[in-house]
Amino acid sequence: MAINVEKLSDAAGAIVSGLDLTQALSADDTQALKQAWQDHMVLLLRGQELTEEEQERFCQTFGEIAGLTSRNSDSKFLFVTNKDDPKLATAVQLGEMMFHCDQAYAEQPCKASTLYSIEIPDVGGNTSFANCCAAYDQLSDDWKERLEGKTALNYFNYATNPSIRPDEIDPDAPQHSHPVIRTHPETGRKTIYVNRLMTIRINEVEKEESDAILNYLFDLIESPHNIYEHVWQVHDLVLWDNRCTAHARQHYAPEKRRLLRRMTILDENPVA
Ligand SMILES: [Fe+2]
Repeated sequence: MAINVEKLSDAAGAIVSGLDLTQALSADDTQALKQAWQDHMVLLLRGQELTEEEQERFCQTFGEIAGLTSRNSDSKFLFVTNKDDPKLATAVQLGEMMFHCDQAYAEQPCKASTLYSIEIPDVGGNTSFANCCAAYDQLSDDWKERLEGKTALNYFNYATNPSIRPDEIDPDAPQHSHPVIRTHPETGRKTIYVNRLMTIRINEVEKEESDAILNYLFDLIESPHNIYEHVWQVHDLVLWDNRCTAHARQHYAPEKRRLLRRMTILDENPVA
């Protein structure tokens, strides 16, 4: 069966069918998958009943698996959930989560992430993906010039509520500066690399100007026309590119269990 790729929205995302991820991928399918990923940034593979090993094999198609750092886990898999489970390496996160790019606060952020859904609420808890290349393209020439060469500090504190940006900055929490505008190494497209959850400061300007620039960029990135909102089904596998998209979790009822298995893929290089 040939691989079939169908767009999910005008902003980003495609559903890929014709693949059974319990089997190793052929060279042709691997190439088609990588092309689809470049074209659409977010890929959905639906109805895949996957073991951890099968998810890991899929991830290895795209690069080296990243070890994870979190409050209670250094395993390769992290279970993103709202209810703790002592048997699993869990990242307990409640409700809504602001837009972010995974590990943007690290010197070498992960280039890709996968989430595999095991249990989802019947309503809510959708994941929104923003196309940050499209957002860059929508900047005026004046804005592009203003942002060129600027860097921004990204920060994340696992010890506080990880779903929102804290008011107080802990100097010992993970943080790293990256260019505000980066070029995607595979597509050559420019993209805006700041996000509302983690980016706290543009380094080269005064705080007031930094806040104004960041608020403008966050609002642009999160404009509805730049968003694909994913409504989860059980056994969805979603792969996204952290170099050119940001993602956010929508609200859901706290009493409903939401459980997804996450594995991330390292970037080859620090952000250039
Ligand atoms: Fe994330």
